[in-house]
Amino acid sequence: MKTRWYKDAVVYQIYPRSFFDANGDGIGDLPGILEKADYLKTLGVDAVWLSPCYKSPNDDNGYDISDYRDIMDEFGTMADFDKMLDAFHSRGIRVLMDLVVNHTSDEHAWFKESRKSRDNPYRDYYIWRDGTGPDKKRPPNGWRACFGGSAWEYDETTGQFYLHLFSKKQPDLNWDNQKVRQEVADICNFWLQKGVDGFRCDVITYISKPADLYHANQRDVVVGPNWKTYMRELSERSLGRYDTLIVGEAAGIDFPRACEITKEGEDLLDMLFHFEHVEVGTVCAKNQKSTDLRKWKGILARWQALPETSWGAVYYENHDRPRSLPRFAPAGPLRVPAAKSLAASLLFQKGTAFLYQGEELGMTNCVFRRADYRDIQSRNLLRDVRRYAGPLGAYIAERHLRRYARDHARTPMQWDDTANAGFTTGTPWMKVNENYREINARQELDDPDSVFRFYKDALAVRRRYIDLVRDGTFSLVDAANREVFAFVRTLGEKRLLVVCSLSPKPAGCAVPADLCKGKATLLLQNTEMPAAPRETLRLAPCACAVWYIEAE
Ligand code: NOJ
Repeated sequence: MKTRWYKDAVVYQIYPRSFFDANGDGIGDLPGILEKADYLKTLGVDAVWLSPCYKSPNDDNGYDISDYRDIMDEFGTMADFDKMLDAFHSRGIRVLMDLVVNHTSDEHAWFKESRKSRDNPYRDYYIWRDGTGPDKKRPPNGWRACFGGSAWEYDETTGQFYLHLFSKKQPDLNWDNQKVRQEVADICNFWLQKGVDGFRCDVITYISKPADLYHANQRDVVVGPNWKTYMRELSERSLGRYDTLIVGEAAGIDFPRACEITKEGEDLLDMLFHFEHVEVGTVCAKNQKSTDLRKWKGILARWQALPETSWGAVYYENHDRPRSLPRFAPAGPLRVPAAKSLAASLLFQKGTAFLYQGEELGMTNCVFRRADYRDIQSRNLLRDVRRYAGPLGAYIAERHLRRYARDHARTPMQWDDTANAGFTTGTPWMKVNENYREINARQELDDPDSVFRFYKDALAVRRRYIDLVRDGTFSLVDAANREVFAFVRTLGEKRLLVVCSLSPKPAGCAVPADLCKGKATLLLQNTEMPAAPRETLRLAPCACAVWYIEAE
């Protein structure tokens, strides 16, 4: 069934709430996405991934689903979804949904039933346990929830605890129950029959829980005991029956495990998102990147070395991380060349490339005040430190959020320089980044030197050289260099040399002599670069270039 079209693809992630608001209620919606389909066609992406747009009470902006077969009220109707799907397909763009099935909302009908009584037919859809301690009021184990506090919530009605690895409004499903697994397969089939082209599977590596939860280590939740069986079954019943792209979010995964669970023919995942490169280093508040480049390159290079039988996903940004500027490259006056340099370094790596909305404009982190944060993780942190750690704790938490809050990536898309960046005619659901007058799509579409135009060109070059980008080997060039990320992709006699300075200062790069001998064509550059690479390349701050080299 699988044609593996995804190996050539660049996928663009849309966070619907912040993409484009077509009805003026301050919240992005599906008709808004449809209006921007031509923009994405112009950019040249092959697929979009929509963060959840199902019915949800929005405790975690849609990652808490109350009905998997309906659309969130603020986003529109199923008819809007169908129209949007057609609009993308008619432009040759595929559509991936976000599959959030580690947990549901506590407002899902299954959970409402489940919590009613211990013998309810839906009781076993979730993970209920007796408490510990003399009065059985202590949680079954010491696991922590991702958004703060214990991962167990006591429910008075039935006198037991339920497990929630995220907020207490996101109870974990019990995948050991075969009815749950069939429900998930049916949900997938519902969307696949509509014509969606695959799924990004939210925290999918957590679905199988260790048998003895009273004594289990929380680490054992990553690729739990029955994970492979459950995924294979899902593939048989649904995912593997269609020509899909299945990408798993895989927090905590290590490299050997990743190779194992993305192995072609195993019917588990086509590729996964690991977190290693986005967890390294710190974000510097002062527009100076502070990630240790050697360490960062080392991680990326290691993940480029997946065996032939596995496939990878490459990305720098998503809705859960601050923007890559100024994390991996300097922002401020160097924002434009830095964003381009990052683009080149991403798009020519091996693997399916994922872009996040606004990355193609070089959007940056935002300056927030305490009241501006909207994300549950940020708000819970501020609430908890105020409660337990006093003013000093609150100060430290705010400093942390200024750098790491998920809110940074979720500010509304900057479409133009009119009010609210042209995102809405109403009151935006969250703060618009004040730099929208300078950074916005309308300006960038018109400017031949913009970040957007660079992405568009880079995507076109990537498509032209797709054999090399897809199948070429990867090796770092000048691996010890602390300022420059450079690598070569090789397929037989053909090579792509990608040199990207991520430094605010002039830098040099040592290029091996054999790469300077062939017949070179300069394919991309963000500043004046020589027509052919030289053994000692001098690079302006954040300069980048991509050469095609054919052996003579
Ligand atoms: C990962 C998602 O990317 C994140 O946004 C969400 O909060 C958690 N999973 C829980 O679903």
